[in-house]
Amino acid sequence: MDEERIVSAMVKGEEIQYEGSLRPQQLAQFIGQERLKEKLEIYIRAAKERSEPLDHVLLHGPPGLGKTTLAFIISREMGVNIKVTSGPAVERPGDLATLLTALAPGDILFIDEIHRLQRSVEEILYPALEDYALDIIIGKGPAARTLRLDIAPFTLIGATTRAGSISSPLRDRFGIVERIEFYEPEALGEIITRSAALLDVEVEGTGATKLALASRGTPRIANRLLKRVRDYAQVRAEGIITSSVANMALKVLDVDPIGLDRTDYLLLETIIHKFAGGPVGLETLAAAVNEEANTIEEVYEPYLMKIGFIKRTARGRIVTERVYGHLNIEKSGEYRQLTAEF
Ligand SMILES: Nc1ncnc2c1ncn2[C@@H]1O[C@H](COP(=O)(O)OP(=O)(O)O)[C@@H](O)[C@H]1O
Ligand SMILES: [Mg+2]
Repeated sequence: MDEERIVSAMVKGEEIQYEGSLRPQQLAQFIGQERLKEKLEIYIRAAKERSEPLDHVLLHGPPGLGKTTLAFIISREMGVNIKVTSGPAVERPGDLATLLTALAPGDILFIDEIHRLQRSVEEILYPALEDYALDIIIGKGPAARTLRLDIAPFTLIGATTRAGSISSPLRDRFGIVERIEFYEPEALGEIITRSAALLDVEVEGTGATKLALASRGTPRIANRLLKRVRDYAQVRAEGIITSSVANMALKVLDVDPIGLDRTDYLLLETIIHKFAGGPVGLETLAAAVNEEANTIEEVYEPYLMKIGFIKRTARGRIVTERVYGHLNIEKSGEYRQLTAEF
């Protein structure tokens, strides 16, 4: 279900190519996240001055905020190669050993979704991260012995949407652990303006602001909305994304001014109408909206929590007063057709 949502932060198949072309190449082109950028700039410069590889970096935060982009930027700023893999792609310890032994001094290994590494694979990483070494077990039973093999000094960059799912021995081996936050509308507006220039589409400042407010704090969604609204502007208007073109296009796309779609409405309405505003347990809520608990937790909730629409309490999820205002319903009153508000 989530793949079809225009406001989903997950990457869609056809996006993999154009995302590459919209990706900033240098730290200076990376918009927003000022504190994080400043820190990375210092760490990169210091490592380069010492001619050492950068400390291992763990980037965590919701999907679509720039973790992969930053990994590539770091490799470029360090002037080293980057090898890319992901937690689920590394099936056996031997696969990881092969990747590690192929690295040249200073290279970066980027492991996306690092929380999904298997334990047996993860254990290969510990000596690699600490001592740039692989411990290989030769033989079986009482005759088995360990052989230590040196590998090139390297930097691991791990990315994850679930920092809490990373084992502490792994987490402790990262010298740099940084969280990427949702973006403010101003930064998203800049990202939209930059992407529009790259896509050769004209967007007025007020149009960019409208799209920024509907992007759920997420550059990936901002870029996707821009592409869809560009189509609308081309076919139904003069090709220019003005404020009113953006408004009309968002309506056609079924996205409200703050980026909520029908799935969000369903979730919020369910808590309000079936569970009297909450608290409702995650599993119960998931069953009621026919969705996986994980998907609710990782995909829908982070933005709803960020804008203060949903709160997690010890007894479950609750909606806040704000939601009643936004959805335009009386807390105890009659149910009104909300989607008519779009
Ligand atoms: N700070 C930023 N400035 C400009 N574009 C960005 C920024 N962060 C992300 N993007 C764009 O958003 C898209 C998704 O970013 P990505 O790095 O793939 O996110 P993640 O790996 O966290 O899911 C890419 O097209 C990327 O170019
Ligand atoms: Mg990514």
